[in-house]
Amino acid sequence: MSNPEAMAPLPPAAGDAPHPGAPFRTVVLVGLMGAGKSSIGRRLAQRYGLPFVDADKEIEAAAGCTIEEIFDRLGEQAFRDGERRVILRLLDDPPHVLATGGGAFIDPQIRERIKQGCISVWLHADLDLLVRRVSRRSNRPLLKRGSPREVLEALIERRYPIYAEADIRVDSADGPPEQTVQRVVDALQRFGASKLSSAGASP
Ligand code: S3P
Repeated sequence: MSNPEAMAPLPPAAGDAPHPGAPFRTVVLVGLMGAGKSSIGRRLAQRYGLPFVDADKEIEAAAGCTIEEIFDRLGEQAFRDGERRVILRLLDDPPHVLATGGGAFIDPQIRERIKQGCISVWLHADLDLLVRRVSRRSNRPLLKRGSPREVLEALIERRYPIYAEADIRVDSADGPPEQTVQRVVDALQRFGASKLSSAGASP
């Protein structure tokens, strides 16, 4: 079923403009399933007065069915192709906070575009935390290919070196989401500051 709310970026409250200090580029959250990308992204967007977009929801809206159904009916490759199309389109939109599915940053074309025009934040979490978090939902197709722990362990091995190419790494806290949001805000501020100072230092 398509979700009309997912068709457009969620606008901040009426009349809001981006808050002072909001990033002027799209902030893209990357990381494994269970790292908290959607939950942190939504709060981060509110904090900055920016629209929030969940890439998985956009893919479902574009396909008119759930991700699980895309995997079942068309297979993973079709999902990856759709994911690429949708995310490349979203990356052309004005600055917003974008939560991506765990495989998106692994795609070389998506990764390259993010590197060119966005700020990427890797929400890092250790295996135990991820396993605990993903056990709350059972609709992730990759996690049906084995025990969630084994699948996540293999994905950590394969994907963490690639997530490490993100501009910023933040450890996802095992506590209230606001704690992680604050870590991201602080890290983004430091990232902005370091960019400015390195630009200032260049001849
Ligand atoms: C995937 C992660 C999922 C979703 C799809 C594939 C992956 O998103 O895009 O099931 O390859 O890691 P979340 O990371 O939001 O669960």
